[in-house]
Amino acid sequence: MKLPEQVTRLGIVIAVIVAVVLLLRFVILPESLFSARPHQAAAAEREMAKPLRHAGVAVCRECHEEQFELKYGGKHRTIGCENCHGPAASHAADENAAKPPLPREREACLACHGYDSSRPNGFPQVDPLEHRPRKKCVTCHDPHDPVPPKAPTECTGCHGRIEHTKAMSTHALLPCASCHAVDAQHMTEPRLALPTKPDSREVCGRCHVPGATDPAASKVSVDMAAHGGTYVCWECHYAHLPEGRK
Ligand code: HEC
Ligand code: HEC
Ligand code: HEC
Ligand code: HEC
Ligand code: HEC
Ligand code: HEC
Ligand code: HEC
Ligand code: HEC
Repeated sequence: MKLPEQVTRLGIVIAVIVAVVLLLRFVILPESLFSARPHQAAAAEREMAKPLRHAGVAVCRECHEEQFELKYGGKHRTIGCENCHGPAASHAADENAAKPPLPREREACLACHGYDSSRPNGFPQVDPLEHRPRKKCVTCHDPHDPVPPKAPTECTGCHGRIEHTKAMSTHALLPCASCHAVDAQHMTEPRLALPTKPDSREVCGRCHVPGATDPAASKVSVDMAAHGGTYVCWECHYAHLPEGRK
């Protein structure tokens, strides 16, 4: 069977195009246009020519066993020393070289722990404006073993002197809550949720008027209308160590 002439011509055109493409690909154009291998080789050579700046944790360990052990046993075990202290190969090779810096500023920690919604779920993050503002992180967290410190659960953890003073006073048995309303947030972020303070003579009068009904009321009462004029009671009595008749 003889092919129609237009099919033969089309066949020739296609054959020529294929031949040109093959010629371009394998003979005319350089190999580096199609393969990554020459680029990789060149890049590897270029990078390997650069001086080493990081030494790696294993090297730091040789002289800093204490910091290594501490870090290895804690939450920062996956972070290299040089992530925080910067490249330190020159220091590791020569003790007289400049010492690596100590990253004590908040920014150094916030680079990883500052709140960012794109971080993985559950990664411990803090809002720098709310989380103990202004204080250096390392005053509360050991950078080599960063356990979150336990917030005090008792008032005495932060107000020890007031607690001890009160314990020696006639008000010893009164809980702090009988005069201050304390929001739970005050226990962890004290300055963001200050407790209330007594704001009127009646707070004291609750227990010191004759016939007071408060279960903790005092046996000692005063005439509210006359005693101490119109001054608030704590102008004359320190509420945490009140003195009466001498
Ligand atoms: C050959 C021993 C040696 C190696 C290896 C070494 N260090 Fe040191 N490093 C020292 C000595 C010695 C000091 C000075 C100690 C001192 O002043 O109390 C020091 C001090 C430091 C300090 C404290 C600087 C200061 O101001 O107090 C840091 C941080 C430090 N090295 C980090 C590293 C890191 C990170 C590595 C690993 C890349 C490393 N070192 C490897 C010997 C070494
Ligand atoms: C999360 C960041 C971080 C990592 C990781 C880290 N350090 Fe530190 N390192 C610090 C900070 C911050 C200080 C300063 C602490 C201070 O002044 O209270 C410090 C202090 C030091 C000191 C001075 C002495 C001391 O203990 O305070 C040495 C030495 C040291 N680091 C070595 C290392 C070595 C070695 C590693 C790795 C095994 C390492 N660090 C890992 C942040 C880090
Ligand atoms: C290079 C990133 C990086 C830097 C810088 C860094 N951390 Fe961390 N931190 C981590 C990782 C990773 C963990 C472990 C998270 C986990 O266990 O899910 C961690 C854990 C912690 C934890 C424990 C949180 C918990 O819920 O148990 C505290 C606290 C902490 N870091 C404080 C700090 C402080 C303070 C600094 C600055 C001195 C600092 N970090 C610097 C990466 C970093
Ligand atoms: C005044 C002490 C103090 C300072 C300063 C402080 N923290 Fe904390 N941090 C705590 C306490 C206490 C906790 C335990 C949880 C709480 O009460 O908020 C904690 C918890 C954390 C946690 C764990 C949060 C979680 O969800 O698991 C991380 C991470 C952390 N702090 C990082 C930092 C960083 C970063 C800084 C500096 C920018 C810093 N802290 C400064 C006291 C402090
Ligand atoms: C984590 C530490 C901490 C704990 C725990 C704590 N406080 Fe405070 N408290 C503070 C700080 C810090 C202030 C602010 C002091 C200042 O501004 O000089 C404060 C202030 C106060 C004030 C004064 C408020 C004002 O307007 O001046 C009262 C009252 C108070 N606390 C009562 C309590 C009582 C009651 C408890 C226990 C239920 C308690 N606090 C637990 C740290 C704490
Ligand atoms: C009998 C009531 C009473 C009791 C109980 C009491 N407070 Fe107070 N507190 C006061 C008064 C009144 C003030 C002063 C208010 C003012 O100056 O405006 C005060 C002030 C404070 C302040 C502000 C700083 C200062 O010394 O003036 C703190 C902090 C505080 N109290 C903590 C405590 C704590 C902690 C306890 C429990 C251990 C406690 N208070 C128990 C009445 C009381
Ligand atoms: C919840 C009850 C209660 C409140 C509120 C209270 N007190 Fe008292 N107060 C007592 C008790 C109980 C005593 C111990 C004396 C006794 O055994 O009756 C006492 C003792 C005193 C004394 C010593 C009396 C003496 O003779 O030794 C003074 C002064 C005093 N309170 C002043 C105050 C002042 C000022 C306030 C307000 C800031 C206040 N009290 C609030 C219950 C209270
Ligand atoms: C201007 C100062 C002043 C003020 C304000 C004041 N007091 Fe007194 N208070 C005293 C003095 C001084 C005494 C010693 C006894 C006396 O001379 O009455 C005393 C004694 C007391 C006593 C012991 C009474 C007794 O019989 O032993 C109580 C209870 C008392 N005050 C409660 C209060 C209360 C509650 C308030 C507020 C409503 C208050 N005081 C306001 C100065 C004051």
